[in-house]
Amino acid sequence: MDDIALMKIALDYATDGVLLLSRNSMRIVSASKSAYETLGYSEAELCELGLCDIQKKLSKEDVKNYLSCNAEDNKLDKVIEVLIKKKDGEVFLAEISIRVANDEYATAVIHNIEERKKIEIELESYKDHLEMMIRVQTEDLVTARDTALSAEKAMSSFLANMSHELRTPLHGVLSFSSIALKKIDVLPQEKIKSFLSEIHESAETLLKILNDLLDLSKLKSGKMAYSYGEKNIVDILGRVIREMEIICGYKNICTNIHITGNEKKISIDANRILQVFRNIYSNAIKFSGENGNVDFYIDYSGRAGVGIEICDEGEGVPEDDLVRIFDPFIQSDANSKTPGGTGLGLPICKEIIEVGHGGRLEMNNREGGGACVCVFIPTERLNKHAHVE
Ligand SMILES: Nc1ncnc2c1ncn2[C@@H]1O[C@H](COP(=O)(O)OP(=O)(O)OP(=O)(O)O)[C@@H](O)[C@H]1O
Ligand SMILES: [Mg+2]
Repeated sequence: MDDIALMKIALDYATDGVLLLSRNSMRIVSASKSAYETLGYSEAELCELGLCDIQKKLSKEDVKNYLSCNAEDNKLDKVIEVLIKKKDGEVFLAEISIRVANDEYATAVIHNIEERKKIEIELESYKDHLEMMIRVQTEDLVTARDTALSAEKAMSSFLANMSHELRTPLHGVLSFSSIALKKIDVLPQEKIKSFLSEIHESAETLLKILNDLLDLSKLKSGKMAYSYGEKNIVDILGRVIREMEIICGYKNICTNIHITGNEKKISIDANRILQVFRNIYSNAIKFSGENGNVDFYIDYSGRAGVGIEICDEGEGVPEDDLVRIFDPFIQSDANSKTPGGTGLGLPICKEIIEVGHGGRLEMNNREGGGACVCVFIPTERLNKHAHVE
């Protein structure tokens, strides 16, 4: 077999199709077997066509430019990505490398890149997906870090707060009891009595803090037991108001009750609801100046439930704090001068109303000043998950 025949076999069986083009007419002069088989033409049919007829990207002008450069200039840099049109109309993506051979001819090698493109697209989409996952995970990590930082901050402010809140009444107990013990024989009975009442008050404060902590941990772990019964909210509010009469008297705060609609009983845990309104009302008194009003608006007119608003004429809560004061141990900086409290009251109230009674509890500011706590307790308790005793 001579060299030409061997060369023909090499060309015919190469994976890529090879075309010989006339630089002058821009027509296909000859084609390797792999070229006409890939394109679906016979060799004779293919030799009727020009490069422009079998692809969808290059204009006649482009082809002319590619074929017109000098043979000496010839470099393998004319690699163009085109859509090749087969005889049956099907198209595939290919890379054509055009190379000028001599004054008369140029070669065009057609390399099918469909598979490679698919892989590239797939890789690109993996890359995008990976980038997205990294972005999401980074965001998650940042959120987790921020949460951990704010939890740490809340915890250290809680510890600082707690140690202060626990130490103050404990010091009271220790110092009053130690003086009383030392001077029991010399002090008048009245003095001893006042020491004992200071000790009693401090012990009650300690007990409230410990009870709040226990309540919150039970509420948060879903272990709070509720005991529901049909009760009228107004009766509970009346009791809370009576309990605080003395402190209201000291501050000359006037409490008013406004009722809309016909009073009715609804299913509630009376002790827990008492606890809720005790805290909301004591907040209203605590964060109000002297000579103000605290208004209770009770609305029985809705069929879905009872709405209760407790509005005061104090300084209110800064907008930024309206939501965060429901987090445990959070107290608004705006009332930092007001002594007492650990910031456990509102989170406990929210859990009792929303989880225990399927209702809603929100803090708002009143037009013209003061805070307004809105509570809604539904007639039909949708939340059946509350642990019932
Ligand atoms: N009526 C109100 N007016 C102004 N600020 C309020 C009012 N009610 C609550 N706040 C703000 O919300 C914070 C949280 O209230 P919360 O009842 O949870 O805690 P506390 O009263 O400080 O302490 P605790 O109730 O545990 O004894 C308060 O410290 C205060 O900053
Ligand atoms: Mg409170």
